[in-house]
Formats: sequence, structure tokens, C-alpha cells
Amino acid sequence: MNILHIDSSIQGELSISRRLSAAITARLAAAGDNTVVYRDLARDPLPQFSADVAAALQQPPPASHVDAPVDACRVAQAVDELLAADTIVLGAPMCNFSVPTQLKSWLDAIAVPGKTFSYRPDGVQGLLGDKRVIVASARGGIYSAGSPAAAAEHHETYLRAFFGFLGVTRFEVIRAEGTKIGEDIATRAVADAMAQIALLEAA
Ligand SMILES: Cc1cc2nc3c(=O)[nH]c(=O)nc-3n(C[C@H](O)[C@H](O)[C@H](O)COP(=O)(O)O)c2cc1C
Repeated sequence: MNILHIDSSIQGELSISRRLSAAITARLAAAGDNTVVYRDLARDPLPQFSADVAAALQQPPPASHVDAPVDACRVAQAVDELLAADTIVLGAPMCNFSVPTQLKSWLDAIAVPGKTFSYRPDGVQGLLGDKRVIVASARGGIYSAGSPAAAAEHHETYLRAFFGFLGVTRFEVIRAEGTKIGEDIATRAVADAMAQIALLEAA
């Protein structure tokens, strides 16, 4: 199994989503003969998806890794890494009710017609139906269903909709929320998330 492990928190060693994504990846990787590709989008961000990047990716031959501008190469590499993966482990903190800008750039890079989804006469078809996505979610407040802030949750719901658009049906979330409310709540949230990780299906 090929695992693509992505982190996007800007909080380095203090990051909770990084702790969770590392634990998820370690659990999956230990379960068999697996390879892991790691990308840290905070340390090594992808370019914002621009007109230049889009144009370079569309030139024939498509996205030549040799001739294309550096930005386009890195975007094309992100798509290749995704397509090569069976499981994607996504460290995803909540930032301003959604995902961090570094993660958004990666999502922009991987939504590629003809590669990850296709336009058809009867509508859009996602092409990533064979992949499993596990989100390591961390957020400072509480947004679970029924909470007062639930309507402001554009984080996990956004990721679920995005990967659903790409055809992913095996979409799982390991969540630690309330990480900024108080130390006790944060500690309990992380412990609960770690307990869930221990129960994850290995494949
Ligand atoms: C720039 C920034 C924006 C944030 N926006 C929100 C937010 O909208 N809602 C929230 O509940 N927490 C917010 N937080 C808190 C983070 O979600 C929280 O610290 C979480 O643990 C971050 O994940 P990490 O520990 O992996 O970095 C924000 C933090 C930062 C740094």
C-alpha cells in the first residue's frame, strides 16, 4: 500500500493535527509492506494556483516535468503523488473556519479534469473512488453537530464535499476539537483521538 502523508499546520512541534496524522500514518505503515511519501505544505508550500500554472499544465506535452516552469512542475508532482497513493492521511487544522491556505493550494493543485475528475455529458465523475482519505482534524473551538458554532463549520464538511466530488467514498475523520478552550479539554480531545486511531482499520 502506498500512503501519502500530508501536513499543513503552521504550528510545528506544537501542532495537534501533526501528532494525529503521524500516529495514523504510523499505525497504517506498521500493518504491512507499505511505503510512505511525506509532504509538509507549511514548510514547503505549493504555489497558489495561478493563470501561469494552469496554462503550463495544459501545454502539450502535458506538464512535462522537464520543460515546464518550476511552479507547474511542483503542482504536477502533487497530482502524481496523489494518483500513486492508495491512502491519503491529511493533517488539517481549522483556520478561519476552513482549511489553511497551504492546504487549499494543494487542493487546488489536485482538482484536475481528466486526472482526478472528468466532465461527462451526464455530469461530473470523480476518478478517485479507489482511494481512502483519513483526515487528522484539529480545531480550537467546538463545531460538532448540535453545538452553537456548528453552522460555522466549513472545515471537515468542505473536505468531505471536495473529496466526494473527486469520487472518494472511504472518507474518515479523526478529530481533536476544543484545543484552544482549555488544557484539560485539549488533553482529553487528543487522548480520545489517539484511542480512535488505535481502532482504525489498517487497510
Ligand atoms: C491562523 C489561525 C486561524 C485559526 N482559526 C480558527 C477557527 O476559525 N476556529 C477555531 O476553532 N480555531 C481556529 N484556530 C485554532 C486552531 O484550529 C487550533 O489551534 C488547532 O489545534 C490547530 O491545529 P494544529 O494544532 O495542528 O496547528 C486557528 C488557529 C490559527 C493559527
